Amino acid sequence: MIRTAITLMAALTPLLAVAAEPKIEIVAHRGASFDAPENTVAAIKLAWEQNADASEFDIFLTKDGQIVVIHDPTTQRTAGVKGTVAEMTLKELRQLDVGKWKGAQFAGEKIPTLDEMLATVPAGKRVFIEVKCGPEIVPELNRVLKASGLKPQQTAIISFHADVIAAVKKARPDLPCYWIVHLAPKGQKPRTAEELIEKAKEIHADGLDLSAHEAILDKTFGDKVKAAGLKLYVWTVNDVELAKKMIAAGAESITTDRPGWLREQLAK
Ligand code: G3P
Ligand code: CA
Repeated sequence: MIRTAITLMAALTPLLAVAAEPKIEIVAHRGASFDAPENTVAAIKLAWEQNADASEFDIFLTKDGQIVVIHDPTTQRTAGVKGTVAEMTLKELRQLDVGKWKGAQFAGEKIPTLDEMLATVPAGKRVFIEVKCGPEIVPELNRVLKASGLKPQQTAIISFHADVIAAVKKARPDLPCYWIVHLAPKGQKPRTAEELIEKAKEIHADGLDLSAHEAILDKTFGDKVKAAGLKLYVWTVNDVELAKKMIAAGAESITTDRPGWLREQLAK
């Protein structure tokens, strides 16, 4: 009887250990942007195919008040054509090809609208929508999110701009909002957990999305953020050893260009 109980415990221990490990959320950065052109419908669809838990992408407002998905304020790098997103209409932007720079097989990819990206989101998955412009985007953002039919918890808003986070939280307290911070900006002092927590509380952020600086973001730093009731996320990690260090520091999600590959590496 006792021997049976001991054998049963021995068999269950590894299973219990796996169950106790916190699940890390893998977030595709600009879609699966290692393999497909960043911030396109092809990249976000590939992120879902690679079983990402979530996908991040960047948004701007066009001259005619539409929301488009692109990282830079200009079109040169991904479309090979000079132009400023905020000074162009949606029709003008849609004439550009943002796929062919990544490979001939992606020729014809257009700059997506926000609603096109949201239409790809499967049940149980979510997006991290990074607002690259200012709070003037909030009314149109709210309209498109409501029209998408997605649940509020599926559409997290992230931004480097603290005023954007504050404005989104004011308009839509039900949307998860995470403040993005570079922990070691060039020529400035490294950021401290205390100052970030104070600011995050002031703007009503639900969490921090931090650059993965292992010399700054250790377990002591991570514990302070989580003890303050804030989520702790990191970007952009394409190195498995760094990913493990960030998980040890308490990161609950990791943004990566290679969601499928990173999940496989972490499972080894
Ligand atoms: O997830 C945050 C990260 O995307 C911020 O950096 O330059 O890729 O927008 P960036
Ligand atoms: Ca981004």
